[in-house]
Amino acid sequence: MPEKGFAEAFGVTEEARAKINLALHVTGQRADGYHLLDMLVTFADCGDRLGFLPAKADAFTLSGRFGETLAGDSGTNLVLRARDLLREAVGVLAFPVHIHLEKNLPVASGIGGGSADAAATLRGLMRLWGMSLPAEALAALALRLGADVPMCVESRPLIARGIGEQIEAVPDLPAFAMVLANPLKGVSTPEVFRRLATKNNPSLNLASGLTGSAGWLAMIGAARNDLEPPARQLVPEIAVISAMLQGRGALLTRMSGSGATCFGIFASMVEAQEAATALHGTRPDWYFQATETISGGM
Ligand code: C5P
Repeated sequence: MPEKGFAEAFGVTEEARAKINLALHVTGQRADGYHLLDMLVTFADCGDRLGFLPAKADAFTLSGRFGETLAGDSGTNLVLRARDLLREAVGVLAFPVHIHLEKNLPVASGIGGGSADAAATLRGLMRLWGMSLPAEALAALALRLGADVPMCVESRPLIARGIGEQIEAVPDLPAFAMVLANPLKGVSTPEVFRRLATKNNPSLNLASGLTGSAGWLAMIGAARNDLEPPARQLVPEIAVISAMLQGRGALLTRMSGSGATCFGIFASMVEAQEAATALHGTRPDWYFQATETISGGM
């Protein structure tokens, strides 16, 4: 990151919040191989940050704990693909841009870092280029970048169905005190899907009229992440990290997305902070982050 504060250094900045699958049910498979999912999704108050500046020529710079991991990855980098796709849609108005990505989230970790970065790029460049797309066109463009990108454009509590593109806001979802934990082993999403034993699992039943955290916790506790068993085969540390979170007092632990990040929900942010500090002391080489998720009312 440049010397000055992030917001002062860049004309336009965007947060790319970590995406957390509170539940993920695999309910079927489309003819093209993509899986049909029912997901209850929320977003954390931590994530990557992106900055955008007009420039003489396109440029892309990286910083942050996980910036190194992405260096040299220009062909597959979702930020650059999002820039190019939006520019194609805009045409002549899309002047060259310097994009800076502060990569604070682990890569390939089930909390949507790449998808959130792509979504933040779409939001940021629309502001920088002084243009907007109708919501439906933006969602369709986002979907071309990845199944999780449309929900990251929304970045608020929601239910996503289909392959992730049928989105419905969940305004009643409360904020949760959480610890995100990852053994820093990247997981291949296609490989996790390939290892699924069953693809026709029961859909997610969202009870109506839930109030307060306790009701939501019970409902989430009764739901599942169907990708957790196959991911545990690939990364045995997921079981270890889940037990560590439980040992520190988590009320509920589960894996997010295709892993390997697990989350623990705690009774308060004080408890979440204490747990993250203690866990970091035990395994300084792993990733532990205390965070409060945003509520549906925002
Ligand atoms: O859309 P995205 O690029 O994020 O997906 C990565 C891979 O995960 C896909 O190529 C596919 O193998 C798998 N996937 C799936 N069903 C989904 C989402 C992803 O099978 N709904």
